[in-house]
Amino acid sequence: MDNSYLNRVFDLPEYRQNGHRLIDMLAEHLARCLQQKGKPINWNLPEEELYFWEDFLENGNKEDFFQEVLNRTVHTHHPKYVGHQVAATAPLTALTGMVSSMLNNGMAVYEMGMSPSAIERVVTDKICEQIGFKESAGGFLTSGGTLANLTALLSARKAKVAHDIWNEGHTEPLGIMVCEEAHYCIDRAAKIMGLGKKGIIKIPASDTFSMDVSTLDEHFVKASANGIKVFAIVGSAPSTATGAHDDLEAIAEFAVKKNLWFHVDGAHGGAAIYAKKYRHLVSGIEKADSVVIDGHKMMLMPTITTALLFKNKKHAQHTFSQKADYLLNDSDEDEWFNSGKKTFECTKTMMSLHWYVLLKFYGERLFDEFVTRQYDLARSFADLVKEHPHFELAIEPSSNILCFRYWQGNRSKKELNELNAEIRQELLDDGEYYLVQTRLKGIHYLRTTLMNPFTTMEHLGSLLKKIEEVAKTIAEKNR
Ligand SMILES: Cc1ncc(COP(=O)(O)O)c(C=O)c1O
Repeated sequence: MDNSYLNRVFDLPEYRQNGHRLIDMLAEHLARCLQQKGKPINWNLPEEELYFWEDFLENGNKEDFFQEVLNRTVHTHHPKYVGHQVAATAPLTALTGMVSSMLNNGMAVYEMGMSPSAIERVVTDKICEQIGFKESAGGFLTSGGTLANLTALLSARKAKVAHDIWNEGHTEPLGIMVCEEAHYCIDRAAKIMGLGKKGIIKIPASDTFSMDVSTLDEHFVKASANGIKVFAIVGSAPSTATGAHDDLEAIAEFAVKKNLWFHVDGAHGGAAIYAKKYRHLVSGIEKADSVVIDGHKMMLMPTITTALLFKNKKHAQHTFSQKADYLLNDSDEDEWFNSGKKTFECTKTMMSLHWYVLLKFYGERLFDEFVTRQYDLARSFADLVKEHPHFELAIEPSSNILCFRYWQGNRSKKELNELNAEIRQELLDDGEYYLVQTRLKGIHYLRTTLMNPFTTMEHLGSLLKKIEEVAKTIAEKNR
């Protein structure tokens, strides 16, 4: 068979040329973003986007491929990107991403990822130390907060339920306790684990959208009376929609009292363990049995880089005690170097490189500086919103997530909801700013997550001005 295509794929001069062009293009993209040229989003309807890429495959110029991807994606590095909780990556971590993609060491077993496995151990030990865990702690990196939360709950079930569910299936109704405001992936994890709706004991949120811990006893008693064996409780640090932090100290105390596994979903704000000024927000995290922290949220790393840390590393080792003889020996030893024994994934990316390179080049100080800057900014933005007669804050921000809405006293709740939804759509179509939206207790809010390290109060001030103008245009149109 003719190998001409395979030879073309491995044409090294072409690879070099493409690579150099791409690095220049991405550097130029960063420069443009930082100088606020262009927009954070050039919004297209899904069908239009689909048509473009179908057509491009047939008729597009391959030299334009990367540029078109750039033109048609959200630019997280643009200071007017104030949308979802996804990092504007540190440029160095785009390079570690490239190394991971090229070397492709799948890491399921030590041989297939010697350096990334050892690097992962260094990184996770460091995070455990920063959390305040003792020597028995340990963890690993895995593909996203969603998967990490599921894995933690599987570990919790293994540790707290005497029956061997992994091998023999469920014999009694089981449950977890979690605030109604927690990220939906907790609910999904519980459903995947077969707990069913009644196995997810939803604790109501207080006025500040954090778990109302005063009702824990009452919910536990009710679940037990219904025959549900509760084995875990989850605290959010913070929850997604509003960025509100659950009281981890109170949850830890309750978990000890009831012999529950205490899991902290710190996917977004776990990075506050590095921030001297804001560490208090996650006080009690060191009492957790397991903690999730996303590198690709508040730690400037690319998707998808998540740490799952255990107070006692033996739990990480036992979650998936399943034989895969061709890969692993079924041993009880702490085989920290055999990633696939502990992770849901078999093959995974060399994500530890992103974490390590930031530690090596800049140190933990980077995370302190970044979290502090973004959390400070959210507080200043909240003050600006409160001063303005036509804006209303949902709650005081405790992280860098802030929900607010355009407000006019002469409009009903329904009218305001419709108006804010329309404002958000106009902003999306316009693309100068990228922000999102959420509904809290039936009220439609605009939602910002201040992820970009170059967003300033000036940008946020002009965002409010822009929203006022958009609201005026909508009012005139509807008159
Ligand atoms: C609190 C929280 N937990 C979990 C997740 C899910 O994490 P991932 O997107 O990495 O799967 C999110 C995502 O926004 C989150 O905010």
